[in-house]
Amino acid sequence: MSARHLIIRPTRRALKQAARLLRAGHLVAFPTETVYGLGGDATSDRAIARIYAAKRRPRHNPLIVHVATTAEARRLAHFDSRAERLARSFWPGPLTLVLTRRAGTRLSPHVSSGLNSVAIRIPADPVALALIRQSARPVAAPSANHSGGVSPTRAHHVRHSLGGRVAMILDGGPCEVGLESTVVDLTGRTARLLRPGGIALEALQAAIGDIATDEVDGEELHPASPGRLLSHYAPDRPVRMNADKPQAGEAYLAFGSGGGGTLNLSEKADLVEAAANLFAMLRTLDRPEFTAIAVAPIPHHGLGRAINDRLKRAAAPRRA
Ligand code: TXA
Ligand code: MG
Repeated sequence: MSARHLIIRPTRRALKQAARLLRAGHLVAFPTETVYGLGGDATSDRAIARIYAAKRRPRHNPLIVHVATTAEARRLAHFDSRAERLARSFWPGPLTLVLTRRAGTRLSPHVSSGLNSVAIRIPADPVALALIRQSARPVAAPSANHSGGVSPTRAHHVRHSLGGRVAMILDGGPCEVGLESTVVDLTGRTARLLRPGGIALEALQAAIGDIATDEVDGEELHPASPGRLLSHYAPDRPVRMNADKPQAGEAYLAFGSGGGGTLNLSEKADLVEAAANLFAMLRTLDRPEFTAIAVAPIPHHGLGRAINDRLKRAAAPRRA
């Protein structure tokens, strides 16, 4: 398939073909409500190996398994009452549960890097759900970008970074949430937030009570998930966060009215709108005419926690 025809509208016919490609062990990029995923058959060692190779992702960083129903999730992992409650409240949606794997499932051991836990979610996007149902298997899908880069929220973002490595990119338009799912670890007695994301911590706590965050006064103690390297979500240009105004040569990503700015995450200071715009705007401002991207302070509540998490990693010192 030529690069020009890689991006496909998700018609019934295209979905059928995408499901066929997945079953044959190929990679298909698809929209979810959070970011675009790089999908592969979660039961196939070969497909999982292809995902790691395409993303140049470290093998110790496990993948999220996407399913269409809670019943399927229960076949793959052990659910306790907290998992049941969170699934009932937030699935389908931007919440990933890390649970203890069941023995003897069809899942490739490589999908969770050999750990005895597995990360599972039911995405809300109808294209994602249709693809999972039609492929008739769990679908492993990291964000469809090179490891360490900015996550894709449009089909053309995927073509830009992984165009040569996927068999097909299903175009579902812009992602509604724009930030990855919230990841919660339920394998221990205390629930732990591994990654803030599209469901606010406050909403999860309202459902199951206390959740440990590895944060003291907004400062992270240590990266929680195996894959949570500090530098991540990084555009080519350096990022400077909590900037009240730009310095000479910098692009300025504003928040709220009166901020001026090269672009504005949300004129009305709405964190949901800001989250949806964040990755696409970082990509737009990642141009040689700017020395860096300065970003306005973002309040640290609701989706602001996830936005600040991504900005902190985008601003972190880069590996050589
Ligand atoms: O919104 C999302 O979650 C998107 C869409 C495509 O679903 N996917 C996504 O995948 O963001 P990825 O691979 O970029 O991030 C998965 C995160 C990583 O931080 C990884 O370390 C963590 O989930 N994770 C996966 N399995 C885990 C496990 N068994 N234990 C702990 N953390 C796990
Ligand atoms: Mg990612």
